[in-house]
Amino acid sequence: MAAITNTFFAIASAGSNIVSSPHLFGNTFSFFRSTLVAFGVEVRFVDTDDPAQITDAIDENTCAFFAELVTNPHLEVADLPAISKILREKGVPMIVDTTLIPWCVFDAKACGVDIEVVSTTKYISGGATSTGGVIVDYGTFDWMCNKRLATMPQPPSGVSRFTHKLRSEIVRNLGTVMTPDTAAMQTLGLETLQVRYERMSATAHELARHFSSHPKVVRAGYPGLETSPYKAVSDALFTGNPGAMFTLDLASKADCFRFMDALRVFRRATNLFDNKSLVIHPESTIYATFTPEMKRTAGIEETLVRFSVGLEAAEDLKNDIERALDAV
Ligand SMILES: Cc1ncc(COP(=O)(O)O)c(C=O)c1O
Repeated sequence: MAAITNTFFAIASAGSNIVSSPHLFGNTFSFFRSTLVAFGVEVRFVDTDDPAQITDAIDENTCAFFAELVTNPHLEVADLPAISKILREKGVPMIVDTTLIPWCVFDAKACGVDIEVVSTTKYISGGATSTGGVIVDYGTFDWMCNKRLATMPQPPSGVSRFTHKLRSEIVRNLGTVMTPDTAAMQTLGLETLQVRYERMSATAHELARHFSSHPKVVRAGYPGLETSPYKAVSDALFTGNPGAMFTLDLASKADCFRFMDALRVFRRATNLFDNKSLVIHPESTIYATFTPEMKRTAGIEETLVRFSVGLEAAEDLKNDIERALDAV
């Protein structure tokens, strides 16, 4: 969250607006709806699958477009190359949270992303050793082309206006600095990222495919499934490896709780992409403080169970879910 808040404290100012999908991680939604609004920054929620909505929402006070590459927990995939064309024309930087798909299978710069934010708590740390985040400035945006951003101070040569402001002002003033011991732990995680990711993603795909036809499952969510409306864009952007998160919708909230109580291998936790498999009921946890209207806007359903697949044997995870579904 520090990566996200620092980015927007560097870019946004009173009277400016941000165009974003409403389908966001809970704290990002809350940061936009509550924190930034108190500083006079407007957030305009649009359906990012509809290019016309993005075009119409942008005006002369738009300082950024924001989306999650794959939304958590809806698992929608943003068609970034298509959105990038609109933003280039309008002079608006594209800021994308790529936490759900790591660098080994996704090239953000090639898709037109100007600023990438990542929660390194997840895939990068590996094993949930530490919390952290990074901001990647690809140096692709001309900050002088947007009147809301051109006031950022002149940087030394070789550094963008955004990164200069971030380093010399925002990070220091807000005090959000990664400690050296956290950086060391996360560097260790980085060394095994690709191997862990490939295995976790393959297991998640197998489980989502297997349980999509289970009689007690109303719907399985995973971008790699033939039934996903995001399969084509996911195949194009992620070289066939769309991540370790999948979801199952059951018939009711009570069924979700019965099911989760019966799981033995999946552990109940809010983190993602730990080496251990995790499960959560987002509506009653991450989004518990949201009003019904906020849940509707954020697209949060009470029948959805979210899984983060770890490194255990696929067969053990399959048996665990199978047995827990029997308890419903
Ligand atoms: C997509 C996404 N972005 C940001 C965050 C925030 O990450 P952190 O808990 O490391 O601040 C999360 C956490 O789950 C997330 O899923």
